[in-house]
Amino acid sequence: MAVIPVALAGRAYEVVIEQGVLARLPAVATHFLASYTGARKVPCVADTTTHRLYGAGLETSLAAHGFAADWFIVEPGEAAKSWPVLERLTDWLLGLGVTRSDHVLALGGGVVGDLVGFAAAITKRGVGFVQIPTTLLAQVDSSVGGKTAINTAAGKNLIGAFHQPGLVLIDPLALDTLPDREMRAGFAEVLKYGLLGDAAFFGWLEANAAKVLAREPAALEHAIATSIAMKAQIVAEDERETRDRRALLNLGHTFGHALEAETGFSDRLLHGEAVALGMALAARYSARRGTISGADAARAVEAIAAAGLPARMAELGLACDGAALVEHMRHDKKAEGTTLPFLLLRALGEAYVARDVDLADLAVFLDQELVA
Ligand code: NAD
Ligand code: GLY
Repeated sequence: MAVIPVALAGRAYEVVIEQGVLARLPAVATHFLASYTGARKVPCVADTTTHRLYGAGLETSLAAHGFAADWFIVEPGEAAKSWPVLERLTDWLLGLGVTRSDHVLALGGGVVGDLVGFAAAITKRGVGFVQIPTTLLAQVDSSVGGKTAINTAAGKNLIGAFHQPGLVLIDPLALDTLPDREMRAGFAEVLKYGLLGDAAFFGWLEANAAKVLAREPAALEHAIATSIAMKAQIVAEDERETRDRRALLNLGHTFGHALEAETGFSDRLLHGEAVALGMALAARYSARRGTISGADAARAVEAIAAAGLPARMAELGLACDGAALVEHMRHDKKAEGTTLPFLLLRALGEAYVARDVDLADLAVFLDQELVA
């Protein structure tokens, strides 16, 4: 078990990582359920899959403490992060009469967490919410840090707010039912922490990836706790990404976003897979610029490939050229006027923000990578 504090003045909270914590939820989250004194009905949001798998367990543990669950259930997938679903969810919360001292429970992956977080941010100018992430990606990344959002026709996550959860409850046992492909996609974000800021953790991941992916309890908990500890530290230092600190968490994301756009944000390439390939490209582009050695770039690429993640663009069989990928990047929400900050590597375990990337040179590099 690990309890990791997120030290934000006035909005501090804890991330509890514990096998079986879902079954003990009301005991761990007593303070967050205390406001439900009348009907003692707790608003819970899930997608149909997480509701089917974990809804009854959550109800049983709530019932043991005299609470009942009121459910709002969405279809799995990105479409739930939309204006129509947000409108229905906020209307539902208002209909229940939630108050600003209440907490809504978000049981699911990053989609449910982002949707509930945003609904909580704007309902009555901010009600509370508890993140109960059930994918590896959500357990190591999206449930912590307060980024909440929905998607619109203009792009992913373009409408949102910073709104921190009151508590994050991580049950690694929930990952037992997660499809292996989703597990690997989440593992990409774990590798990200090693590559961006912790060489020793990166080395540990090289040696222990198979154990983490096989959900061996000790290895899995170590991977989650180390990832969350780094994220909590970074968020505490730069909550709103106004300095070049939280931006480090975007390692692999600008390349990855272009690849997701090129593949239509579809199941052809999951977000974590795009981040994995994006990190491989960032490593190889760093080697091209001479900030890391070719051998270090090869080591990063090998760690990604060894986890069963895409590490070479040729694997995708894209029909575009490098210029088209750069064009997608220009529309990235991280673009600053005419410049585009890139997360590159100074070492394995040390990322930095480069604002001097020549986009013509980048397009040439990508042309080579598309066929390498
Ligand atoms: P997801 O929420 O779509 O979950 C992936 C799939 O796994 C879904 O079909 C879901 O029903 C299923 N699932 C969830 N838990 C399961 C379990 N325990 N067993 C079996 N199936 C399970 O995807 P995700 O990868 O968790 O999250 C992606 C979303 O997170 C994207 O919308 C992305 O923009 C967002 N995100 C947000 C942040 C942030 O900081 N807020 C960071 C990264 C990603
Ligand atoms: N997932 C990137 C961040 O939380 O900043």
